[in-house]
Amino acid sequence: MLDSDHPAAAAEDDRHLPPDSRLVVAFLDDEATITAVRAGLAPLGSSIDVRRGGLRQAIRFFRSLAPVRAAIIDISDAPDLASGELQPALDELARTCPPDVPVFLLGTNTDITFYRLVVHEMGATDYFPRPLTRDLVQRQLLPRLLGTAPEIQDARSGRVIAFCGARGGVGATTLAVNSVLQLAAMAQNQSVGQIALLDLHLHDGSAAMMLGARPGSGLRVALEDPARSDALFLERATIALDQRLHLVAGDEASDSAATVTPEGVVHVFDVLRQRFNYVFVDVPMPVPPEMRILLRLAWHVVVVLHPDLPGLRDAHALRQAATQAAGSDRVFTVLNRADMRGALKRDLVERGLGRAPDFVIPDLGGRMTEAVNLGKPALTHVPALRRHLLPLVREVVGLPTETSRRWSLSRLISR
Ligand SMILES: Nc1ncnc2c1ncn2[C@@H]1O[C@H](COP(=O)(O)OP(=O)(O)OP(=O)(O)O)[C@@H](O)[C@H]1O
Ligand SMILES: [Mg+2]
Repeated sequence: MLDSDHPAAAAEDDRHLPPDSRLVVAFLDDEATITAVRAGLAPLGSSIDVRRGGLRQAIRFFRSLAPVRAAIIDISDAPDLASGELQPALDELARTCPPDVPVFLLGTNTDITFYRLVVHEMGATDYFPRPLTRDLVQRQLLPRLLGTAPEIQDARSGRVIAFCGARGGVGATTLAVNSVLQLAAMAQNQSVGQIALLDLHLHDGSAAMMLGARPGSGLRVALEDPARSDALFLERATIALDQRLHLVAGDEASDSAATVTPEGVVHVFDVLRQRFNYVFVDVPMPVPPEMRILLRLAWHVVVVLHPDLPGLRDAHALRQAATQAAGSDRVFTVLNRADMRGALKRDLVERGLGRAPDFVIPDLGGRMTEAVNLGKPALTHVPALRRHLLPLVREVVGLPTETSRRWSLSRLISR
């Protein structure tokens, strides 16, 4: 709420407080919304203060000059806009709430004119129509409260899906490569646009080999120093595999030292997300510190593990790192070669992960390695892989499942 008409002393106090010690205060009035907000903002821990109420209670609260980081206010019970009483109430909120405190409003009005009015004219930071889900809170509200929004919020830029092996050799590259191939094959029917597979292994990448392609050049320089990479780097580093599928990979001699920087990583992602709707990434493990920013940029992190104890331990650590980096848990776990010899029993795997793995892929035998040696994609050499990979591909890119498609269709028909 932007209005300078508030006690200067409050602003003074706020400035001396370390930002994280201030609370996010929420005024909510129904159980479902309270549950969604509490669950979606769980990473904020004890710095979220949920109170019963709405606009009136919020105004009263701000009159007390309590320092807060942000406010979430349900205005469903506030006077109707047409009554002419909503605007004065929001003006009063603007006069009491410090201007640097972002205010997120919730309400039942779904009219775009209402949205424009409260956000563009009355200065609310954003407005969310109810009902609010935990997922929506997690995706749209949490990053903005954590200050991580700019990189991951731009709705128009492509989605980054990072594939990480819990440890070496568990099949991360296999699953990344074959997922993009499967997505590309489905793309036309499913209205999926341009897809890139980025291999961040600069020296020993195997994505190109699995695809029977040759890596391009220019990726290393762009990852090192954005200032030195020109506008054409993408053209040189990208190999078109078909009309909509592209491989972005570098092939550096193993004795050439690459000094990748976080700025370079962000730059490469900025460029790729402008051009591609989906950017799948084969991430080196352990994730080099200068690439850790990637965990924050990723829409989803796919953690691949084998059914063994080290895999469980490392998958757990990776999930924590990714959750901490992004502020919300956007990790999918894939138990690969689930029935391999000596595999841990499923209940032990679930206990170790704290939940069931999101996807399970069986051991598909020696033909998988044979495919690598032939430079053929496993998806064509081992057709069963397609069936096992399909649920993962659909989920990570957010395509409707067959069940939800049937459901929405039957709803349309029954109207
Ligand atoms: N479900 C599966 N069944 C049988 N073999 C598999 C399966 N998944 C992967 N493989 C085989 O396991 C080997 C290692 O796979 P891949 O190179 O994808 O692992 P990675 O995690 O990327 O390893 P690295 O740490 O070297 O990057 C390959 O030969 C691959 O064909
Ligand atoms: Mg690999």
